[in-house]
Amino acid sequence: MRKTNSSDKLFRDPLGHVVDFMFDEQVADVFPDMIRRSVPGYDSIISMLGVFAQHYVVPGSRVYDLGCSLGAATLSMRRRIQQPDVSMFAIDNAEAMAQRCRELLARESTAVPTEVVCADVREVQFENVSLVVLNFTLQFIDTGERLDILRRIADGMLPGGALIVSEKVTFDDRSERDRNEALHREFKRANGYSELEISQKRAALENVLVPDTIATHRQRLAQAGLINVDMWFRCFNFVSFVAHKP
Ligand SMILES: C[S@@+](CC[C@H](N)C(=O)[O-])C[C@H]1O[C@@H](n2cnc3c(N)ncnc32)[C@H](O)[C@@H]1O
Repeated sequence: MRKTNSSDKLFRDPLGHVVDFMFDEQVADVFPDMIRRSVPGYDSIISMLGVFAQHYVVPGSRVYDLGCSLGAATLSMRRRIQQPDVSMFAIDNAEAMAQRCRELLARESTAVPTEVVCADVREVQFENVSLVVLNFTLQFIDTGERLDILRRIADGMLPGGALIVSEKVTFDDRSERDRNEALHREFKRANGYSELEISQKRAALENVLVPDTIATHRQRLAQAGLINVDMWFRCFNFVSFVAHKP
């Protein structure tokens, strides 16, 4: 069993040249610590995904966790699913993440068959789906491809099914953007990250994580054919939406 519980020191020392962020072995080793200390409300969102699963999953349907990383969302949902004949699919295109996810999920016994697939979300076929989770994943996909993914997900959903999309967001209004980014930096300082760590990680993510505005997300989810888009979580520049298939 590989380690996944180290503390995140990846950006602690000065890097001569900051390369683009990748979900590789080094990141997988520290991922739980990194995401908790970087994403305000991450643990609350994960535990609420279990509540969403309890509410939206129907017997005989499929549940997808897209960009599953180490499977935190899958585990939270799986622990709450009581409905019969449900199958879960945890998908990630980073082998380092998918392999560890398989090992972590195998540690818990479950009545819900779960397949961990190392694949690109853009190539997944969706069918008979009651719940899909994109928990901080869409932001890593090319902006031009985001609508197509949402459309394919929506097309594969059962009436009454739900899609949860959690994202870091940006703001058109400069002052609103600055206020929220300043609070996010404060959150990271409060979690022990130094100014150097914050700035080096920011540079590494610059071309890799491209945030949209809240309005863009709402518009895109509607264009994909989903309705009743509720922003059920927000903390600073981090939000989560639930959107419904009519
Ligand atoms: C911030 S992490 C997601 C965190 C995770 N959902 C959770 O709740 O703990 C983003 C994940 O999306 C994966 N990812 C990014 N682009 C992807 C793609 N095109 N297809 C599949 N996975 C992708 C990355 O490998 C990474 O593991």
